[in-house]
Amino acid sequence: MLDEISKLRDEATAEISRLVSPQDFENFRLKYLSRKGLLAQLFDKLKDVPQEERPMFGKSLNELRSFLQSEFDSAENRNANQEMPSSQKIDLSIPGRRIYLGRKHPVTQTLEEIKRIFIGIGFGVADGPEIEDDYHNFEALNFPPDHPARDMQDTFFVNSPSTNEENGKGRYVLRTHTSNVQIWVMENNKPPIRVVMPGRCYRNEAISARAHCMFHQIEGLYVDKNVSFAELKGTISFFAKELFGTTVKTRFRPSFFPFTEPSAEVDINCFICGGKGCRVCKHSGWLEIMGCGMVDPNVFKSVGYDPNEVSGYAFGMGIERPAMLRYGVDDIRLFFENDLRFLNQF
Ligand code: PHE
Repeated sequence: MLDEISKLRDEATAEISRLVSPQDFENFRLKYLSRKGLLAQLFDKLKDVPQEERPMFGKSLNELRSFLQSEFDSAENRNANQEMPSSQKIDLSIPGRRIYLGRKHPVTQTLEEIKRIFIGIGFGVADGPEIEDDYHNFEALNFPPDHPARDMQDTFFVNSPSTNEENGKGRYVLRTHTSNVQIWVMENNKPPIRVVMPGRCYRNEAISARAHCMFHQIEGLYVDKNVSFAELKGTISFFAKELFGTTVKTRFRPSFFPFTEPSAEVDINCFICGGKGCRVCKHSGWLEIMGCGMVDPNVFKSVGYDPNEVSGYAFGMGIERPAMLRYGVDDIRLFFENDLRFLNQF
């Protein structure tokens, strides 16, 4: 009996090392390990063994069975791994992969912050088309026909089958500012109006660290009875403190826009150098952040409002500039290159 046990052990061990195909494994299992297999046959022979020797043989057979089963199992595992192409082999020692979360673009974050401030003081949000007719981008905003902003130098014109040349309604441009949305909002609503209007704008500019041919603006419009310049100043000063911090100073400089009268440009004191003068503020101590003014009567006329009944203010500012100041970015092009090494920092 002992001979038979060790013979089975040697033969089976030798065979296990030669198993390759799934069929080999199945044949081996049937031959040795199944209920009618050679191992089971040896167990059957136990009953012919003298009573007092049975426990000893039984123990040896049990050991053989677990030995063969574990040799068989590990051979099968080894084989399964080898069959996989090496690219699919499982290496449990490799560290887990980190999951990277997406995040909001710094321009979006700045825009959302600006919207939050205006929504907080009662403004709604509106938007309008980026491909715009000459009428909404220029004409209705009181741009005279020969205004330099209409020049090819500044404006991207869109080839369009011209159906209605009257008032420039059939001629299309990529909007050069968000002021076009002022017109859409006033055409479709009655005063009082209080909205901000964010969006993309396009200008035919040479791309540099400070300027891009595509950028974002947010426009503001407030129309009601007896709206004053003092309200415009108060609103903008409040806004600047909210966005840049309570110690920021604002200054209004007289300026000109065809669609506002009077018009102003708003500067904040340069918080980068504290007013001493640096590269960012071009050594003036001030940073320009927006244009604004009282809505020109001609604009009210083009949307069918009576300038003797209502008054209002409008403002418009770029988003990239405040975003650059906020995050200390010194080249506007970085915003649009979609380099994850840059974007992951915000
Ligand atoms: N549209 C002007 C610009 O793009 C900004 C502006 C908006 C000025 C509203 C006055 C009022 O520069």
